[in-house]
Amino acid sequence: MLSFPSQQQYIIKHTKMAFLLCAIVLVSSWASMTYASDPGQLQDFCVAVPDSSSAVFVNGKFCKNPTMVVADDFLRQGLNKAGNTSNQVGSAVTAVNVNQLPGLNTLGVSLARLDFAPYGINPPHTHPRATEAFLLMEGTLYVGFVTSNPADPAQKNKLFTKYLYPGDVFVFPQGLIHFQLNVGKTNAVAFAGFGSQNPGTITIANAVFGSDPKINPDVLAKAFRVEKNIIDYIQAQFN
Ligand SMILES: *[C@@H]1O[C@H](CO)[C@@H](O)[C@H](O)[C@H]1NC(C)=O
Repeated sequence: MLSFPSQQQYIIKHTKMAFLLCAIVLVSSWASMTYASDPGQLQDFCVAVPDSSSAVFVNGKFCKNPTMVVADDFLRQGLNKAGNTSNQVGSAVTAVNVNQLPGLNTLGVSLARLDFAPYGINPPHTHPRATEAFLLMEGTLYVGFVTSNPADPAQKNKLFTKYLYPGDVFVFPQGLIHFQLNVGKTNAVAFAGFGSQNPGTITIANAVFGSDPKINPDVLAKAFRVEKNIIDYIQAQFN
């Protein structure tokens, strides 16, 4: 007779606690998903070894046995040398990410050297996995990025631009479309730091117009609001 209400209270109290625990677990897993970039390291370092063409896929690279690791695993030379800008865009990116410098594996950073011939461009592209801090050493660049689609469909994506001079640092936030154009009469040289061991690059024009196989031109004609022959023409530039 006395036990009934106390048992009910017991159940209510423990149901509340279970809800609270569920909420804590949900919030903390949401938080770790939201704020996760490259995975946090579980050891001093994890020098990458080339993936053998094995059946196993890992998100990242296998670690070299730490007892076999040498100083050279943390060294990449040659960033004093200009990249070859004799190409259609007049720019060259010399990347130093985990693919060139195995010691970067699991450490969440990488960098690149960028060279621009006069009027050379690094065409609109995004880095799906990293914010980029961009330092101009020589020359004059016009740079910019565009925000993602605004919540209000009546608004437009916003463009932020700057002219950069030697010593200037500009930030391209993670995932946003950005570009750099050499507006000077001399070569330009820049270095970029990334918050990922492997930031990835999607060059918009190449991805949209130069994929293999091609995206059906009807899709692009509708998307870009032009006649199909214009799409055929642009796709032909990326053959
Ligand atoms: C630069 O690239 C062009 C085009 O691929 C090539 O013809 C030229 O030999 C390269 N120059 C150097 C210095 O490697």
